[in-house]
Amino acid sequence: MGVTYFKRFRMEYDLAGGLFPEPRVPNDYVASRWNHRLLEEHSETKFNSFRFEIDANVFPCLGNLDGCRRLMGDISGRPSFLPNSTILVAHHDHQTGEVDYCGTIQAIRDPQNRGSIQNIGVTPGHRGYRIGTWLIHHAFRGFITEGIQLATLEVTAHNTKALRLYERLGFQITRTVFKAVEVAFA
Ligand SMILES: CC(C)(COP(=O)(O)OP(=O)(O)OC[C@H]1O[C@@H](n2cnc3c(N)ncnc32)[C@H](O)[C@@H]1OP(=O)(O)O)[C@@H](O)C(=O)NCCC(=O)NCCS
Repeated sequence: MGVTYFKRFRMEYDLAGGLFPEPRVPNDYVASRWNHRLLEEHSETKFNSFRFEIDANVFPCLGNLDGCRRLMGDISGRPSFLPNSTILVAHHDHQTGEVDYCGTIQAIRDPQNRGSIQNIGVTPGHRGYRIGTWLIHHAFRGFITEGIQLATLEVTAHNTKALRLYERLGFQITRTVFKAVEVAFA
């Protein structure tokens, strides 16, 4: 076994300065707040969003379905869990009646009373329609109803797509950290 280090940025968004406008997303997408009955849909959407992405190396649980189930079960049972900022997006195909779960975000309150958003994921076929922006917008509305004024997240430095999205929305980098991950050498 060896250890590899992933460079990550901590970012913050000051909600006291106002919330960015709700993006316009196609009207066949529907966002829902957390409900325990949606644990499986959140877990599957997370897995399908992360399985081929860099963060599945940083957090190996994101690269397998059982890991995503354990993660959602664990986080949703914590006192710090924020159900109003934990959102699932579904795509409704009005012609076939099919529902495809395609976006997920979860949030907790940290000990400094900041809203921490975690593991935002949009499945590959639904990217670029502002679903990611919409998930963050909904999570932030949940923070505001909880009286939370500062939002935080961590992003892997090489995850340029996510980093660009957060910078475009107005997040600022506040710290650089390194996450150690154990790797097996062949
Ligand atoms: C990061 C991720 C969540 C973004 O989801 P998304 O739904 O594609 O995000 P959005 O559509 O809101 O924004 C992305 C793109 O849409 C376009 N877009 C969105 N809003 C726009 C706007 N207001 N004006 C112009 N373009 C816009 C842009 O092209 C943007 O791409 P860019 O960052 O290259 O400029 C998604 O790529 C993903 O799930 N990645 C894998 C998991 C992951 O790494 N998550 C992040 C963990 S920190």
